[in-house]
Amino acid sequence: MKDVYILAIETSCDETSMAIVKNGHEVVALTILTQMDTHAMFGGVVPEIASRMHAENITIVLEDTLKKANMQVSDVDAIAVSYKPGLLGSLLVGIEFAKTLSYVYDKPLIGVNHLIGHIYANNIDDRLEYPLLALVISGGHTELAIMKDDYDFELLGSTLDDAIGEAFDKVARVIGYPYPGGPNIERAALNGNNSYPLPKPVDDDTYNFSYSGLKSQVINLVNNEKMRGHEIRKEDLACSFQTVAVDELCRKLSLALDKTGIKYVVIAGGVSANKYLRNEIGKICDKFNAKLYIPRFLYCTDNAAMIGAAAYPLFLKKEFKDFSLNAESHGDLV
Ligand code: KG4
Ligand code: ZN
Repeated sequence: MKDVYILAIETSCDETSMAIVKNGHEVVALTILTQMDTHAMFGGVVPEIASRMHAENITIVLEDTLKKANMQVSDVDAIAVSYKPGLLGSLLVGIEFAKTLSYVYDKPLIGVNHLIGHIYANNIDDRLEYPLLALVISGGHTELAIMKDDYDFELLGSTLDDAIGEAFDKVARVIGYPYPGGPNIERAALNGNNSYPLPKPVDDDTYNFSYSGLKSQVINLVNNEKMRGHEIRKEDLACSFQTVAVDELCRKLSLALDKTGIKYVVIAGGVSANKYLRNEIGKICDKFNAKLYIPRFLYCTDNAAMIGAAAYPLFLKKEFKDFSLNAESHGDLV
């Protein structure tokens, strides 16, 4: 079969990224332009600034990607773009750009669910085997699903309130670490001990998660200590929070591995960059004799390579979008 080259675009949050992916697995070129430093000044992503910066940078990112690949847009077989979930204004910049390229170069347009993109990040260096358990852990989502085949999901559970990444970011802020909170909590926790007693988020036998209670516990603890004039042991609090947050994922994953007997596990989304989490989930998978897929660090956080990987099965099925493709702020795996 002829090789398939997909030009993929990702602008759902604060990374303007483009990639050319060959046959769904080989990253020919990847450019990620992050706006993180700008948003860090505001303590979080400012949607209006994010979409403006995407609009300013998107052509530069295209030129850079084509240069790295030594290719032209006319050389690719399709244009893929993440269209949900994410910030509407940010998504729209990528979508309109993708539509324009699709129209001008007469290439099919593929719409990719960003969350599914995170899962397919694992199909770049490795080959996914089904059925698998997918744990999607990002700034906006915490979902556990069975993936039976390409694009065939059965949702087992999701967060009832905050996503795990959101909890990392909010807890970091209240402890006094800058945005993005996740990596800063991870770094701090390396020098801390799990010495603050924090309750388990959801102590039940469902596959649902809850992180707002845990977040509130940390906020209350910080406020109470301040009122008493006590110093917070920042590293210890970061470590205690991270331990409980990750333990919750491990408990639910254990339950699913035990009940379903599935032997493949994928972790996906920005929070999967966390080394402590990777390690703990690894131990659970070892216990159940299951294979764990973890994306390379580069492919954990938002990037267009994963969008190109996720677009490939859609290209093969000829699941193309027309120019009515629109951005959707919300979206789950199913
Ligand atoms: O997938 P992602 O890049 O964007 C969304 O689709 O949400 O995930 C971003 C989230 C943020 O909440 C960030 O704090 C978290 O991933 N994150 C981490 C780490 N790196 C990124 N959380 C914990 N530990 C990390 N090392
Ligand atoms: Zn993401």
